[in-house]
Amino acid sequence: MDSWQALKSDCADCRRCSLCGTRHNLVFGVGREDAELMFIGEGPGEQEDLKGEPFVGPAGKLLDDMLRMIDLDRSMVYIANIVKCRPPGNRDPLGVEQEACAEWLGRQIALCSPKLIVCLGRIAAKAIIDPEFRITRDHGVWYDVGGRRCMATYHPSALLRDAGKRPEAFMDLRSLRKEIRAVCDSI
Ligand code: URA
Repeated sequence: MDSWQALKSDCADCRRCSLCGTRHNLVFGVGREDAELMFIGEGPGEQEDLKGEPFVGPAGKLLDDMLRMIDLDRSMVYIANIVKCRPPGNRDPLGVEQEACAEWLGRQIALCSPKLIVCLGRIAAKAIIDPEFRITRDHGVWYDVGGRRCMATYHPSALLRDAGKRPEAFMDLRSLRKEIRAVCDSI
């Protein structure tokens, strides 16, 4: 049977793709390991790579604000990324990198067993919900993925670049709050 300890130890010195050659730290994930709600981002940025923790840079500050708007904080949720190591220059993670990393996130999801998953941005939504996912068209819609309720909203970095998307993201958060009330016990 799998355990968080086994997973962390298996993942710790991962060399499955070339991102291991440029990383400062592998960014495993953070938060409540039995959370009913998991957020999945794309991959570490510069600050995350330096600290070894997801969403600690400017996008992370906005994610904290977004959580606060619906009475959540980091300690109540689990936060992970599609790829655990920073793609140089913050480019999109390549398909081969995502595939090489998929086992780690798969095991995180299985161990955490969240009722709800929120994908942050296009890359996570395509990997988790549907390869044909289009964030502008499909954000805020709830999907059943392997028995879990999943939706995607705009990535906080996209909201920093384009504040015009924030009202739509706020509607997604309201929908998330409603879903939490409907299916979660501990949050
Ligand atoms: N963007 C992400 O997708 N993940 C992080 O951890 C930080 C920024």
